Amino acid sequence: MRALILDPEHKTASVRETAKPQPGPGEALIRVHSIALNPVDALYVFNPIATTARVVGADFAGTVVEPTTPALKPGQRVAGFVQGANSFNERPGAFAEYAVSPADLVWAVPDSMTFDQAAAVSLCALTAAQALFYRLGLPAPFEWVKKKTGQARDTFPDGLTFFVYGASTSVGLYAAQLLRLAAAANGIPLRLVGTASKKHFDMLKAAPYGYDALVDYRDPNWIEEARQAGGASGIGYGIDCISEGETVKQVLGVLGEGGKLAIIRSLAGGAWSSEGVNLNSVFYGAVWEGLGVEIDYQNMTVPATEDTRRFAVAFYRWLSSGTALEANPVRLMPGGLSRVVPDGFALLGSGSMDDRAEGRTEDWMRPISGEKLVYQV
Ligand SMILES: NC(=O)c1ccc[n+]([C@@H]2O[C@H](COP(=O)([O-])OP(=O)(O)OC[C@H]3O[C@@H](n4cnc5c(N)ncnc54)[C@H](OP(=O)(O)O)[C@@H]3O)[C@@H](O)[C@H]2O)c1
Repeated sequence: MRALILDPEHKTASVRETAKPQPGPGEALIRVHSIALNPVDALYVFNPIATTARVVGADFAGTVVEPTTPALKPGQRVAGFVQGANSFNERPGAFAEYAVSPADLVWAVPDSMTFDQAAAVSLCALTAAQALFYRLGLPAPFEWVKKKTGQARDTFPDGLTFFVYGASTSVGLYAAQLLRLAAAANGIPLRLVGTASKKHFDMLKAAPYGYDALVDYRDPNWIEEARQAGGASGIGYGIDCISEGETVKQVLGVLGEGGKLAIIRSLAGGAWSSEGVNLNSVFYGAVWEGLGVEIDYQNMTVPATEDTRRFAVAFYRWLSSGTALEANPVRLMPGGLSRVVPDGFALLGSGSMDDRAEGRTEDWMRPISGEKLVYQV
């Protein structure tokens, strides 16, 4: 098959022929139709931590070819994510004509959703779900129990006010949708406050996001404006969908005393400054935990945790049941696999938001803003 394969020595990846992956017990071979890019895919091609040539990329959508379990049928439309070259561990990725995934870690794509849209869902929607329901402990719109603690969910009879920093990021867009669906499912009055560029305010105030108040993160007074938008009782919970430089400290400044903040980049990875940050208020996790395997990356070992895997399975089962979750807006990029590195990864840069390339004049090379880059394979 044709695949985008990491060249760790030259810090790049190129399209080459390689053997089709073989599904093991409980897995399925999937013909990949569309892939979506995540910042981490570009980061670890330009700064490889994998030392062997292997297929890169995480998010995919495609058709089941060869299931080794009756849970999936040949021809079924599915989406999911795998780890690719995003860790030291030898696990192949999805930017290829075929990929292999555990059958319970893909979800059934509804007829109403294209493969391009479905590819944009799995990794970022699970990241947002983990942050909200697994790490912050908010009531979820689907059934699951954290075995480790067996903890009961808070009920929020007086309502929940939630703050999203980076509301137009892929993770932020899913966070708002999931909060709306969770609030509706659990009868919780929800007030949603967020930051984004002004050009996105109308989209973010409309369904399915329904923001009550938005501030522009480029406004020098945004912290105070966001705090005030939270109302008299303050904002108890938030997610920092950027978690770079000073943002963690700034977002904690928006939350009231005792506020709980989910962050999406690790302190160990060095993306944000911990100076003046109460580390007991911040909750980090990597989406890879959902795969339920040990992962070595960013100066840490993420253990194989059964609880996080069960959470991912419950989340994807919920997606498969025909929920109202909409895919994020998609920018379909031209050229297929061979243009992922020179175009898509160039737009994503090598890790931080400040490092995203600008200056190319083609229409599809405009900065990423409120959308997901998708390629057809
Ligand atoms: N922990 C995990 O497992 C995990 C999983 C997924 C992603 N991540 C990380 O989460 C981050 C976001 O990923 P993503 O795919 O959601 O990003 P993305 O969609 O590519 O983010 C693009 C958006 O970022 C916004 N933005 C850029 N700089 C900003 C700043 N300084 N302050 C506020 N907003 C800013 C822009 O907003 P405007 O257009 O409105 O200006 C733009 O819409 C990445 O660092 C990624 O690696 C972590």
